[in-house]
Amino acid sequence: MMCTRMEPRITRRVLLALCGPLAALASSCRDRGGRAGGGETGGAADLGGDETLPPEPPASPAAETGAPAMNDAGPAPRNNVTGPDAAGGTCAPTTPDVIGPFYEAGAPARTLLAAADEPGERLVVAGVVYGPDCESPLADALLDVWQADVDGNYHAAGETDYRLRATLRTDASGRYELETIMPGRYELADGPRPAHIHFQVSAPGVSLLTTQLYFEGDPFLAPNDSCGAGCNSDEPDRIVALTQAQPRRATFDITLAAASG
Ligand SMILES: [Fe+2]
Repeated sequence: MMCTRMEPRITRRVLLALCGPLAALASSCRDRGGRAGGGETGGAADLGGDETLPPEPPASPAAETGAPAMNDAGPAPRNNVTGPDAAGGTCAPTTPDVIGPFYEAGAPARTLLAAADEPGERLVVAGVVYGPDCESPLADALLDVWQADVDGNYHAAGETDYRLRATLRTDASGRYELETIMPGRYELADGPRPAHIHFQVSAPGVSLLTTQLYFEGDPFLAPNDSCGAGCNSDEPDRIVALTQAQPRRATFDITLAAASG
């Protein structure tokens, strides 16, 4: 299940040599089967140099792809959680995803990941954390959240005061809400990863969940995700719809599995 590839960056020079204009990246790079990247990077400190590829524009996947308009005025539509509201009434825990190389422990407790001057489109993500029965909300569950900035770069905790990183807890009703910006895409050797936000969610008596949140309509969701089979960006329970209204809003309900053993 673990993604053995890390999350390397590609240099502008190499990419242009191999693939030409950025617009051709998604199809031509992968179609040629070429590895434009220069190996794996081990941490956020490697990112953000002048040689890194300019990212795709801030992810507004629906607008980019002509996907159906989302709910404009009301609350954000629910993700396809397999909980009490799910069709068929089945119950399953939220699916996991790879942690990636950029997690850093110690993020401050806050609900605001992005300061007011952080570039990017504002985004509010809210939801409920449920226990294994998919119905019982978990109060005081801990969410550890991290993401790339609008340019697709992660930031080292010590250098940036945990920019775009936070921990927060659910309230007595199991609810949480965080405010951030739409994450930018970044490049692996074989092309872009879809825009995503990383989550680790834990609570007493249940299993730790490490996963990623994706956005409906993103053209780089699996099978086009350059992370390959190790990343599960085609799991419908973690692909959320966005409101068109600003700030963009998404609902991401999470169900934690029973503790193993
Ligand atoms: Fe990531």
